[in-house]
Amino acid sequence: MQQIAWQRELLRIIFIVATATAAGMTFERPLLGALIGLAVSQILMFKRLNELFKWSNNLGPAPQDSGLVGYSADILIRKERVLNKKIARQTKQLKRIAEGIESLQDGVLIVDQAGYMNAFNRASCHLLGLRVDTDKGQHITNLIRAPRFVKYFEKGDYSEVLELESPHRLNLIVQVQVTQFGIDQKVIIVRDVTERQRVEQMRQNFIGDVSHELRTPLTVVNGYLEMLADSDMNPGIMRAVRQMSEQTERMKSLVNDLLHLSKLESNNAGIGNEWFEFQPLCAVSVDQLRAYTPVSLTGEKFPEAVIHCDCASDIEILGFADEISSILSNLITNAIKYGRKEGKAAQVHISIKDHNHGIEIAVADQGEGIAPNHLAHLTERFYRVDESRESTIGGSGLGLAIVRHALEHHDAQLKIDSTLGRGSCFSFTIPAERIRYKSQ
Ligand SMILES: Nc1ncnc2c1ncn2[C@@H]1O[C@H](COP(=O)(O)OP(=O)(O)OP(=O)(O)O)[C@@H](O)[C@H]1O
Ligand SMILES: [Mg+2]
Repeated sequence: MQQIAWQRELLRIIFIVATATAAGMTFERPLLGALIGLAVSQILMFKRLNELFKWSNNLGPAPQDSGLVGYSADILIRKERVLNKKIARQTKQLKRIAEGIESLQDGVLIVDQAGYMNAFNRASCHLLGLRVDTDKGQHITNLIRAPRFVKYFEKGDYSEVLELESPHRLNLIVQVQVTQFGIDQKVIIVRDVTERQRVEQMRQNFIGDVSHELRTPLTVVNGYLEMLADSDMNPGIMRAVRQMSEQTERMKSLVNDLLHLSKLESNNAGIGNEWFEFQPLCAVSVDQLRAYTPVSLTGEKFPEAVIHCDCASDIEILGFADEISSILSNLITNAIKYGRKEGKAAQVHISIKDHNHGIEIAVADQGEGIAPNHLAHLTERFYRVDESRESTIGGSGLGLAIVRHALEHHDAQLKIDSTLGRGSCFSFTIPAERIRYKSQ
């Protein structure tokens, strides 16, 4: 096809030049005739090129030509047709995606890197009270003003989701998750989690109420068992009474742990957040536990633990003193109970380290350590590494769940490093925003 177009173009030039040369020969000026022929063919070419230019700028019809210009126009027309088809297909696809996003129950918002709103779907209007006509182009923090959201959005670390009350409807709890999208956009997904929160609240209340109700009967049973233990009875019954008494003690501590956990879970509002000195609090926890020697349910007493405490520091923490104290007690108690080698005393080492991003507090032991497959589960409620061993020591598996919750209230996470046969180190870092120095 291309070859034919070239041939036609050349034939056309040759024909015009030959005709003009022949005409020139009749006037005995063949050269002049040839030049005029060339000029004419050039002018005709310009004319067709001009038609092509006009057509390509939508200023005229496509050039009707059988030469190179016509051939080029044909190619362009065909390419345009293919492109148009592609665009139509993609527009249809885009429309379908947009309709899909629009019909989602979850709110989807697209903001630019700085946080200005580019687009949002209908569910966002329902969940956050956005208005299509006025809110496009607004900054997201003008629309969701909750300080927790503003802090979350500006921090730029979106590894976790955030739950907050909808600014639009009372009692509507939404979960917000931001995801980086391309290099200069962010997608914000907003989900209604009111029902899930309600069920969670019911669960917490139930555990709290049941634990509370169990406390009184347990105290009564324990009182009677203590009375019986003081009386004169035959050794068989005495042994049974002692075991019953130990089991009720265990139940009491379980109920207390459950109550503690449910209190921690329900105090997400951060009531009682204040500055307190760390060192005296740590010293009290350590002193209380120095005298603690775990006794197994079979009556075996473990050697007294050796506790080293390098906590000399003048830091103050913004948080909940009783929760930090409970974290330390749980970690130290665990280190005393599980951080020892068979027949040896536990060696517990408490340390405090200053990092740029906060203060790291660690409780380490030199016990048997924990196998890696258990590490991720240790903070789950009722999780114990070795059911049979732990039940003889008397653990209920709630201690580290309490620690995790208490740390969440301090924007910190529990880090567990453990090597089998060498020991474990439980540590957490209180972020710099929650730390100040008394001397400064
Ligand atoms: N320092 C440690 N060394 C080895 N294992 C540990 C250590 N600390 C905790 N564990 C393991 O983690 C499990 C969970 O600990 P957690 O404190 O949650 O429960 P617990 O001590 O069994 O019971 P509770 O603390 O409620 O009395 C323990 O049962 C134990 O197996
Ligand atoms: Mg424990």
